[in-house]
Amino acid sequence: MAENVRVNVTVNGESRSSDVEPRLLLVHYLRDTLGLTGTHIGCDTSNCGACTVLLDGESVKSCTVLAVQADGADVKTIEGMAPAGNGALHPIQEAFWEHHGLQCGYCTPGMIMAAADLLKRNPNPTEEEVRHGLEGNLCRCTGYHNIVKAVMAAAESMRSGEGVPA
Ligand code: FES
Ligand code: FES
Repeated sequence: MAENVRVNVTVNGESRSSDVEPRLLLVHYLRDTLGLTGTHIGCDTSNCGACTVLLDGESVKSCTVLAVQADGADVKTIEGMAPAGNGALHPIQEAFWEHHGLQCGYCTPGMIMAAADLLKRNPNPTEEEVRHGLEGNLCRCTGYHNIVKAVMAAAESMRSGEGVPA
């Protein structure tokens, strides 16, 4: 068996250091080693996007990245989205809540992380651009209509400076 490798990662603003198997996927590192189970696993084909996190600010499917590839990187998961301490939600979370952007909620963490990346790159997207930006995230129960509405609403509130930046 291959030797474990030390990885140093900043996760949601906290430095974490672990010895991991070289083949360990980032999603398993986050969920099983660090206990951050808000990042979901929805497929074994890199298709669903439920495992999406921000890696150095860019959305990635964490089931397609090895934990060792995240060495030295800054990772943000759904647990790091809400501002700490005051019980408030991130504007994207708030908008999903307000606009009923979920049913079972399984895809929601990945959707929110993908939306955060999308809105950082394009703070004023059209509906079509939102649909395109979330193409890699599958939701099997909402038909996307309310998800798109939620992301459009989040974009608007973030542009007007409400809440916290992504
Ligand atoms: S679990 Fe990563 S894309 Fe489905
Ligand atoms: S809300 Fe159920 S899969 Fe998206």
